[in-house]
Formats: sequence, C-alpha cells, structure tokens
Amino acid sequence: MKNTTLTFKEAKQKGEKLSMVTAYDYTVAKLVEKSGINAILVGDSLGMTMLGYEDTISVTLEDMIHHSRAVSRGVKDTLVVCDMPFMSYTNTNIPQAVENAGRLMSEGRANCVKLEGGTEVKEIIKAIVDAKIPVCAHIGLTPQSLNQLGGFKVQGKNLDTAKNLLADAKAVEGAGAFAVVLECVPKELADKITEMLEIPTIGIGAGNGCDGQVLVYQDMLGMYDDFKPKFIKHFAQIGDEVVEAFKNYDKEVKEKTFPTEEHSFKMKKELLDQIL
Ligand code: KIV
Repeated sequence: MKNTTLTFKEAKQKGEKLSMVTAYDYTVAKLVEKSGINAILVGDSLGMTMLGYEDTISVTLEDMIHHSRAVSRGVKDTLVVCDMPFMSYTNTNIPQAVENAGRLMSEGRANCVKLEGGTEVKEIIKAIVDAKIPVCAHIGLTPQSLNQLGGFKVQGKNLDTAKNLLADAKAVEGAGAFAVVLECVPKELADKITEMLEIPTIGIGAGNGCDGQVLVYQDMLGMYDDFKPKFIKHFAQIGDEVVEAFKNYDKEVKEKTFPTEEHSFKMKKELLDQIL
C-alpha cells in the first residue's frame, strides 16, 4: 500500500515506528522499495554524497528535481520526500518558495517537500501547505545554516536553545507540517518534543524515542567515510565490498582472465571471412 502523509499520522496514533532513508537515484530507490521502508528522502545531502561538495549550500533546485524524478520512477509504495535546497525558500519571496515546492512535485514527482527551520519559516510552511503541498519540517541541526550554527553541533543543549527548539517544533506543527525531522538533538529533549506534538518526529541523532528514524544511505551502508557522526550505525560494509569487487575486476582485466567466452558474442566464420 502506498505510504502517504496519512500513513505517518496514523503510525503516530498507533504508536508504530516510521523508517526513512535517503536515496538519490532509480536503482537505489528500487532497492529501498523492496525493503518496505516507509519513505525515501531525496535529501540535499546529495551535495556531499553524490556530487562531492563539502556541504549542501551549492545544491540547486534543478539538482533536486533531477534526482527526485529518478527516485520517483523507482518506487510505487514508498513516500518520496524531497528537500528544498538552500535559498529556494525565503521569507522575502514566499510566492517563489511555493512555486519552487510546486516544481519539486510536478517536475520532480515528489509526494511532499522538506525544508529547514522553525519559527522563522512558519509563514513559508503555511503558504506551501495552503497550496496543497505537504511539508515535512526539519529543526535542530539544520545543515543549510551551518555557517550560522558554527559547524555540525548538537542543538538545544542549554535552557534557552532547548526552549527555542520546543517553540520551533510547536511553530512548524501549527503551520501545518505533517512531520518534523529532529537532527542532532539530545535524546531527552527529542522525547519531550515527540510527546508534545501530534505530528510524528523523525530523528537523526535524536535518540530512540522519536516516532521514526532517518539515515543517509551511504552512511548506514558504510559507503561514505569523509565524515562519520556519532549517530551513524553501519548496517553493512558495502564500501569495502565495492572496492574489493573493483580490485578483482582490475586484476582480471589486466591478467586477461575477464572477459571469457561466456561473456562474449560470437560471429559465424563464413561471415567473418567475407568481411575480411
Ligand atoms: O539531506 C538530508 O539527507 C537530510 C537528512 C540528514 C535528514 O536532511
């Protein structure tokens, strides 16, 4: 059955956990679909994991549309959430934000969009939701604000910042978000927010009390080692296996043991004789 924003709402009401993982292309999207994971996030983390940037700042709306289209072609039942990239939603041009969110849906074929920020983006969330586009909010560590936050740091660790996060959570729910990602937040605070909200919280580095979890797939499969936050668990070591396979291929090509007859196409001798 197709996962929808309603599935998210009902899961929270029934106390069932939600799973989300990033994917950025057709092949991986098909693998996620087979696993039964509820949602794919076409995250702007693709700037790092797919494009090799040092952060998400250079990712464009066109990049997101391109990857979201590919992912959407690979799934049937999995909910596709697509990130709005840096500067594609601002308080100074809300109509533009709505139009950009619309392009992620109509051209990227996403089922909903995700954007970063709390109280300061509530008017943007409201306008996008009013345009019938479901919004997943994202608070705590918001990578697009890295230059303001001063790096990848746990958020809400003192009284003032913890209170601000509670206010942010309330604000995005009030603005109509159907879910909220909590990134790098102390477990106890994430638990409090989860208890306080009617919409599901999706944690990443926010403990096991959230209503769901999200991870970047290259992180969880051991494929990306430029940076390894504390909250990452490697569920496989695909990176090592891929390197091993590439090494074996390289060796066999150079030793002339690949390709063999089995991997080659044949031509009739009479035909060959006629050409040569
Ligand atoms: O872009 C992304 O992958 C994200 C997750 C880290 C939540 O926003």
